[in-house]
Amino acid sequence: MASKSRIYRGTPRNLALLARRLRAGGIVGVPTETVYGLAADATSKAACKRIFAAKGRPTDDPLIVHIASLGDLGRVAVANPGALRLARAFWPGPLTIVLPKTGAIPGEVTAGLPSVAVRMPSHPLFRRLIRLAGVPLAAPSANPFGYVSPTTADHVRRNLGGKVSHILDGGPSRIGLESTIVDMRDPRRPALLRPGAITRSEVERVLGIRVARSRTSRAGGRLAPGQMARHYSPRTKVVLHDRLTPALALRSGPDEAWLFIRRPAGGAGRPNVHWLDAAGDLRRAARRLFSALRELDQAGYRTIHAERPAGTGLAEALLDRLKRASSR
Ligand code: TXA
Ligand code: MG
Repeated sequence: MASKSRIYRGTPRNLALLARRLRAGGIVGVPTETVYGLAADATSKAACKRIFAAKGRPTDDPLIVHIASLGDLGRVAVANPGALRLARAFWPGPLTIVLPKTGAIPGEVTAGLPSVAVRMPSHPLFRRLIRLAGVPLAAPSANPFGYVSPTTADHVRRNLGGKVSHILDGGPSRIGLESTIVDMRDPRRPALLRPGAITRSEVERVLGIRVARSRTSRAGGRLAPGQMARHYSPRTKVVLHDRLTPALALRSGPDEAWLFIRRPAGGAGRPNVHWLDAAGDLRRAARRLFSALRELDQAGYRTIHAERPAGTGLAEALLDRLKRASSR
């Protein structure tokens, strides 16, 4: 069905072609270390409108702007010393910083907000593409609005194939969860808008002050849309369990899927029992989460029963995505 799109390997020639396309106002599916994005010239209203159209994304949901060097931050945002400390500590990497925007970024990108979310990704191909394009690139996750984020080029092609003709393949996303978002508009009152691989305590260590946990965060008086309850959801119903045991799985019918964090003792060997990582390593579990949800979604199960990750740090980010996947 959806395959008018072509997947490009990251050769110098292909990167030059994709950069030209971006400069001309086109959209390109791009690899990042967190999830795949759908990129366009962040300084062009028309280009960014194409992102919203391809995703079916409401225009009041602001985009993240990606830059390739710290020198480009001032072009898109008004920084402060705290934000610069975070940037120096975690960029390039999975941290997005919300700051007042400059005039270079049109309101279409920020959903009319006076602030902009900025990130310097670490994926080498994406960084090279930003440099070649010579403009900051706005990019949301490359999923249809509300569906599970893509972590491979093939996920993008399957979901948006009819709408995105060019996709850069950079291999499976190393982290697998969207970036941590920190609101630094007021550096004395930083807030965590979305948990990710960079944890709240790591951010606090760099800033030297507490970072508020902002579950129902408001950006400029408006709900930050990454915080929408139903988001990242497979079509299959997902139920979160505080304690998932192999016994539960053994008693269930074949149309109930059981998704453990680590391989359960004794419960393995049944086709409806799944796990994110054999040893329960959270980094590997995070890398696997979205593709596991996609696979279970396509397998025709009636319900996906998922184990609730316990603990802080990366577990918080995993729990956040599982909660959204399970909310109806
Ligand atoms: O890892 C990531 O951040 C990926 C890759 C592609 O970089 N991008 C991503 O974008 O997850 P997206 O559009 O799926 O999520 C961006 C979220 C928005 O939903 C919103 O919650 C928040 O970033 N955001 C963007 N601009 C904001 C602003 N000015 N104030 C507050 N939140 C903002
Ligand atoms: Mg998204």
